[in-house]
Amino acid sequence: MKKVLQGIGSLWLVLVMVSLKPAYAKDIGPFYGHDKRRVADWIKLYERPGRRNWQKPELVMANLRITPGQSIADIGAGSGYFTVLFSKAVGPQGRVLAMDIKQAYLDYINQRIKRDKLDNISLQLIGPDDPKLAEASQDLVFFCNAWHFVEKRGPYLKKLYRALKPGGKLVIIDFGLKKIPFGPAYENRLPKAQLIQEAQLQGFKPWAEYYFLPYQYFVVFKKAD
Ligand SMILES: C[S@@+](CC[C@H](N)C(=O)[O-])C[C@H]1O[C@@H](n2cnc3c(N)ncnc32)[C@H](O)[C@@H]1O
Repeated sequence: MKKVLQGIGSLWLVLVMVSLKPAYAKDIGPFYGHDKRRVADWIKLYERPGRRNWQKPELVMANLRITPGQSIADIGAGSGYFTVLFSKAVGPQGRVLAMDIKQAYLDYINQRIKRDKLDNISLQLIGPDDPKLAEASQDLVFFCNAWHFVEKRGPYLKKLYRALKPGGKLVIIDFGLKKIPFGPAYENRLPKAQLIQEAQLQGFKPWAEYYFLPYQYFVVFKKAD
């Protein structure tokens, strides 16, 4: 009898887990897998010194051609790997918005802000489908390794287009389908051709593309002047 009850108990648990999973997966989308690792461990990974060899942050920054006083939104900012570089590039008259769907990342960036006195960075917790940026407020909207997490890309791109100033840029650096030893699962990656097609549908003009990153594509779109 005890075994029968235990069996019913296990079956109930399995049924509950199965019935909960689709709703959970639907809410979190491709980002679901990220919850298997602690944010602190992801931060270590994003900030690992070896990343510099393939992320080439100085070369990325040089090609973004940021000028002092600009406003930049770093969406999916994570540990702030690029946020802190933007902070220096825009200077005291500029503004950097570090945005993420996870408060723990913003808390980490906040520690960096306090430690390094980066007064021109603001933090914002956002939902997965809308960064709620004000109309014509940004010179540059930047995603590094984060765009593939966005599920409703068409409506999201429309919001980004509105948020850019005339002549403003949307920059997306992300993992393509190239076989590399790490990065997101292949089924969660967004091919570059699809990104370009989706962005063009929302009015973005592909403006530049850089090929010096060995593992990622680097595409710059522009809003018409
Ligand atoms: C792989 S990390 C990249 C972090 C940082 N951009 C970098 O290059 O190191 C992806 C980040 O995107 C965030 N993210 C996931 N889905 C998002 C969404 N829909 N909107 C904004 N951020 C999202 C995650 O919380 C995480 O911080």
